[in-house]
Parts: sequence; C-alpha cells; structure tokens
Amino acid sequence: MRIFRFDEIDSTNKYLKEREDLKNYDCVIAKTQTAGVGRRGNVWVSNEGMAIFSFTLQEDKNLSLEEYMRLPLIAGISVLGGLKKIENLDYKFKWTNDIYLQDKKICGILVEKIRDFFIIGIGVNVNNDDFGYAQDKATSLKNITGKFYSTEDIIFCIINEFKKYFSENWEYVLNEINSYNYLKGKEIEIIKYGESLGSGIAKDIAYDGRLKVEIAGKERLFNIGEIHIK
Ligand code: BTN
Repeated sequence: MRIFRFDEIDSTNKYLKEREDLKNYDCVIAKTQTAGVGRRGNVWVSNEGMAIFSFTLQEDKNLSLEEYMRLPLIAGISVLGGLKKIENLDYKFKWTNDIYLQDKKICGILVEKIRDFFIIGIGVNVNNDDFGYAQDKATSLKNITGKFYSTEDIIFCIINEFKKYFSENWEYVLNEINSYNYLKGKEIEIIKYGESLGSGIAKDIAYDGRLKVEIAGKERLFNIGEIHIK
C-alpha cells in the first residue's frame, strides 16, 4: 500500500484522479485541503485536526455494477467500525453514507470513479472544532470526549475495516449497517433536484442499498435524494 502525505493539498480525491500510475489501495493523506470537494459539488471545509484521506480500489471485472453500488455504504460502515475501535461511542449510520454522533455529522464520504479505479475520499472530524458553514450541524471526536487522537491511527483503522467489510458477505454487512440506521423510525421528506418526492417514515435499508420509506401506508424505495428529517 503506497501512502502519499501532504501538509496541504487542493483535494485528496483530485490528487488520485490525476495520477496516471494508480495501484490498488494507494492512499493519500493531507492535513488540510484548499479545495475539498463534498457530495453534490458542495465545498468540504477541511481544517487541520481532521482525518482527511482518499484511497483507491481497483475495479474487479468479476464483480457486478450492483455490487459496486454498495461501495458508499461499505465505506460508511467502515468509518463507523474504525471509529468504534478507536473510541467506542454511539455512532449512527445516516443513509446514504454519513456517520452521525449525538445527532451531528462527524464524517463525509465521496466515492468517485476514474478509469478502472474507485476513489474513496473520507473526511472525519477528529481534533477540529471549527466546521465552517456547518458549525451547527457537525461535531468531532474531540468535541465529544475532550481527548486528542492520532488521525493516522484512525485512517488506517478505517482502511482495515474497509478491507474486511468489502470481502464480507453483503447480507452480514447490510445487517450491520441497519443496526446503526439513524433514519429508522424518523419522519423524513425526500427531496430530489429541489422537488419534494413525499414524506413518510424511514425504515430499513433494502438489499439493493435503497432506503425503504413508508408513505401513506405504502412502502417505497428511494435511491438518490436529499433526506430532510422533520
Ligand atoms: C460529503 O459531502 O459529505 C462528502 C465529503 C467528502 C470529503 C472528503 S475529505 C477527503 C476527500 N477529498 C475531497 O476533496 N473530498 C473527500
């Protein structure tokens, strides 16, 4: 596993996407990012104290697209598992792949694809307490426990968990994910491209990775979309 370390970089995902000589499980770690990228093109505030990293996963042509659709979920449960090993707190998995602690976001994950590599970019709030525009909605490990942590220990713990979960049986992994399901039982509204697709009660995550939502007595499945908790 090659490791590239930077004090400052524009974006660890971008760095890997621009390298021509990628190998499986190449990993880039940075102390800060000047142009961190979030999902849906959002800016990802990347202050010192966070665990900021991206790693590659080489596509195996024997696996199906359906199996690769699970990657964001597998990355999410790997962060949760890795954090639990470092500090055993009551983390929750917020579909599709945010990790929450005490109702606040502690981690963001961005999965991208370049040639035959998936790039899994992860930012975990560890020792930082400035979350920029997301100040009210985010928290960090240090915020909760008052302790200081090694970001690299956390990063390698998460990657090890990823390797473990990626090779596990999907039903087992999905069960794990569902046991931490933050949205389950909550009233949520599904918004897609700014338009409300309806409100209902969130249920489990289905076998294909979609979220089950009970709307007016009927169960429906959702894939992409922003989730608003009422
Ligand atoms: C989200 O919007 O929740 C996803 C945020 C992903 C941020 C991480 S930090 C490391 C990697 N590099 C990036 O530019 N983005 C991801």
